[in-house]
Amino acid sequence: MATLDVNVARVESHSPLWVDRGLLEKLPSLIQSARYSSIVVVADTGAVKARDRVCTALGIPHSRVLSVQGGEAQKNTEGLMRLWEFFVEQNLDRRSLVITVGGGATSDLVGFAAATYMRGIAFINIPTTLLAQVDASIGGKAGINFHGVKNLLGSIAQPAGIVIDIDTLETLPERELRSGFAEIVKHGLIADRDYFDTVTSKRCTAWSADEMVALVHRSCEIKKRVVESDEREQGPRKTLNFGHSIGHAVESFSLAHGPSLTHGEAISIGMYGEAYISHRIGKISAADLSTIDQGLRAAGLPTRLPTPIPTAELRSLISRDKKNVGGHVKWSLLDRIGSAVFDIVVPEELIVEVLSAIQPGAQSL
Ligand SMILES: NC(=O)c1ccc[n+]([C@@H]2O[C@H](COP(=O)([O-])OP(=O)(O)OC[C@H]3O[C@@H](n4cnc5c(N)ncnc54)[C@H](O)[C@@H]3O)[C@@H](O)[C@H]2O)c1
Ligand SMILES: [Zn+2]
Repeated sequence: MATLDVNVARVESHSPLWVDRGLLEKLPSLIQSARYSSIVVVADTGAVKARDRVCTALGIPHSRVLSVQGGEAQKNTEGLMRLWEFFVEQNLDRRSLVITVGGGATSDLVGFAAATYMRGIAFINIPTTLLAQVDASIGGKAGINFHGVKNLLGSIAQPAGIVIDIDTLETLPERELRSGFAEIVKHGLIADRDYFDTVTSKRCTAWSADEMVALVHRSCEIKKRVVESDEREQGPRKTLNFGHSIGHAVESFSLAHGPSLTHGEAISIGMYGEAYISHRIGKISAADLSTIDQGLRAAGLPTRLPTPIPTAELRSLISRDKKNVGGHVKWSLLDRIGSAVFDIVVPEELIVEVLSAIQPGAQSL
């Protein structure tokens, strides 16, 4: 079993992280359940099998389990109220533990509820989508959507533990697996050239569960290292946003107008676009850009839009990104494959150019 510790500056923020198969049955010893005055489980409706394994392992009765609909629809104030009410009904106190089982939307919602209930009670993430395993469950960010803006309200509080059982991915639809894999490729691009070469060596659906243990572990290690160096995203944590300035714009447009793209599909197109910018400002070579384009495709990820999106629409969505400060888009870009830089300002003409370069059928440079 592979283990990691996520240590951010604050002393109380020590989050052990475990990655393996068959881990849920070992929960009682991993999380030292006797330390808590009571334990409740909040489970994603998409992760029923994992929920049942968790409850059996810890002897948690149905009365202490709340099911929440997986996905974005629950990440709002109503969803949050329901959780706070459940915590009150269950008489949770400052020594209680909330276990979250599910995808990133569920861990975002439940993490925020736990971080705010009694000014913060312990929670443990058991992520059951690949995206949640390599990204959303690590780093302590949680939140809900508000006024049509994604993750507008939120908290940063580190989980008391992160338990990643790769077997939970068995039931995950292929498209969701691909979505999480885009973040894995991102980790290679921003932090580890060899890892990028490995994860783009075959289609992302071709990895066995045992091989996935190693990949997820490496990705967690990369994300953990970045988060530890900068919990509140003042500096290096911004490199994790590589691909996301364009990616979020593409994702927002596709959600509003279709055809819908997963987060990972949008981010994959965004990574190609932002690698293109990295090349055009002289940070990476044309050969590197082509390696990235081909690598993403070899993993089964898109690098161009499936249907055209007007560049003006994308440009205006990029301007509205939450990451902008004082009206400026600050880009996280590559300075080589395996290393990223942040807070880069890009000329306006180049932003317009790249938005053409990601249109369907656009040729690489
Ligand atoms: N907090 C962070 O740092 C952070 C980072 C990245 C993403 N996020 C958030 O994560 C969310 C996306 O996460 P996601 O991709 O996991 O999506 P998700 O949580 O919406 O889950 C996707 C779907 O998979 C289902 N599901 C979950 N586990 C399953 C399983 N084992 N088998 C079958 N189906 C399963 C869910 O019910 C849902 O329908 C977004 O809301 C995003 O904002 C947060
Ligand atoms: Zn992402």
